[in-house]
Amino acid sequence: MTSDIGEHQGASADAVEHHYDIGTEFYRLWLDPGLTYSCAMWADGDDLRGAQQRKLDYLIEQAQIGGAGRVLDIGCGWGSLMRAVADRNDHALITGLTLSRDQYQHILADPPDRTEVRLEHWNDHRPGIPYDVIFCVGALEHFVRFGLSRRERTATYRSFFAYCHSMLAPGGRLVVQTIGKGNRPLDQVSITDVQFLANEIFPESDPPRLAELAHASEKLFEIRSVINDRLDYSTTCAEWLHRLRTHRAEAERAAGTRVTEAYERYLEASIRQFDEQHLVLYRIALRKADGPLSG
Ligand SMILES: C[S@@+](CC[C@H](N)C(=O)[O-])C[C@H]1O[C@@H](n2cnc3c(N)ncnc32)[C@H](O)[C@@H]1O
Repeated sequence: MTSDIGEHQGASADAVEHHYDIGTEFYRLWLDPGLTYSCAMWADGDDLRGAQQRKLDYLIEQAQIGGAGRVLDIGCGWGSLMRAVADRNDHALITGLTLSRDQYQHILADPPDRTEVRLEHWNDHRPGIPYDVIFCVGALEHFVRFGLSRRERTATYRSFFAYCHSMLAPGGRLVVQTIGKGNRPLDQVSITDVQFLANEIFPESDPPRLAELAHASEKLFEIRSVINDRLDYSTTCAEWLHRLRTHRAEAERAAGTRVTEAYERYLEASIRQFDEQHLVLYRIALRKADGPLSG
């Protein structure tokens, strides 16, 4: 059971392209070599590549992919999680969805084994055969627009969880990583940061509150674990910012001065937001609830 609500309340394809289709060459200058564009998981001695690998390993472990035959990655970016799943499971068929043409072309040019990438909104993806595992990493932030009421937001997340429920086989796992809103009141600097991020960097997007996700997934999913690793995201953004500054001249050649400056400001603002608990980072493992849908 799904509804059109998800499609209309979240970021449009144009808004997603505004952010991601600046050019893969630009992102290559400051992301890790696998082009993973979401919070890493840091341990002592890690570099960015190692911390991204640790995060992919963690998410895959939470999804228990050993016996999985079909895996869906909603918001697959440049395909790093699809590659990691293909490396660890020698039989699963893996489908990735993105709204970014650059990401789609990048994966198509060198597709990992047993994978398919689609330029498609999750709400339009109706494969007819259930999945065993669904991942959604760093994409949920785009499913609700800035400025909606709490009721509208929760209804939109519910349409996403109902969609995942309908796409999963019995016992299926859903693993979500998402930025969330923190619980500290915003001061003036934070309000300016939030407005800048919403208007200039992530149009038509807004992160969820944990209570909205818990409410929206009621009777559809069992929540198996939730961790908040917000400081991992400030460390990740600090590393991205350092790499962007190191490659500043190339970044300006790839994307222009205005975009490069806006990205520096976005990463600086994000470090502040995560350090000061205005934003948090959830890694959530869920399991499809048994029994008929209700509520
Ligand atoms: C921050 S990137 C994260 C990419 C990847 N999961 C990673 O960790 O590297 C967000 C991704 O979500 C995708 N996305 C956003 N809204 C979407 C939607 N409604 N349907 C499918 N993909 C979507 C974008 O195209 C992009 O690939």
